[in-house]
Amino acid sequence: MQLSQMVIEHGPETIGEAPYCFRRFISSERIQNEVRRLGQELSRDFAGRDPVLIGVLNGCFLFMADLSRELRVEVSIDFVKLSSYRDGMQAGRLNLDKNVGLDIAGRHVILVEDIVDTGNSLDFLRTHIRGLGVASLSMVAMFVKESAIRLNRQPEYTGLVIPDDFVVGYGLDHGGRWRQLADLYVLIPHEDQA
Ligand code: IMP
Ligand code: MG
Repeated sequence: MQLSQMVIEHGPETIGEAPYCFRRFISSERIQNEVRRLGQELSRDFAGRDPVLIGVLNGCFLFMADLSRELRVEVSIDFVKLSSYRDGMQAGRLNLDKNVGLDIAGRHVILVEDIVDTGNSLDFLRTHIRGLGVASLSMVAMFVKESAIRLNRQPEYTGLVIPDDFVVGYGLDHGGRWRQLADLYVLIPHEDQA
């Protein structure tokens, strides 16, 4: 096989079936540039602090894998899992499905989120993790929606600020689909779908 056949630079321009068609919105290159920047910032800020990275499942899985490999400090890795009684694209009440496994009392914790939308998950997890007696708590999110910024609910570290539209890819799903895509896709308004 030729090298040119093996390298897929982008996913398809559009994905899905009406009424849930999405178009490519942010390329994997752009995302990876921001991941590298975040890795540098965190490596600088957490040098000598032996931090614990805690990923929020399921959406964090690609970001966590990429970000952790950009860090130049030693870290411990753990995960929590939240479920919201989510109905399609509507957020609901939150429940902690999986707690932290490590003893994080006295540790410097970096919570790793795919996206901050309403900021409810971020608030819920801040309260929960602080209750475990950590030395400090910071949050890093790959994407932050504009509404979260307006409501002053942004994390300490932000990859990219995006409009308040529904997105999939780079860990984010709609009905369990599209998480594995390397690019980020945005929902096409219904009236513009074929
Ligand atoms: P919150 O509204 O900030 O609490 O976001 C809760 C969670 O909803 C995020 O961690 C994502 O897993 C999910 N979520 C929020 N916005 C989107 C989106 O546009 N697409 C897919 N999942 C989303
Ligand atoms: Mg999430």
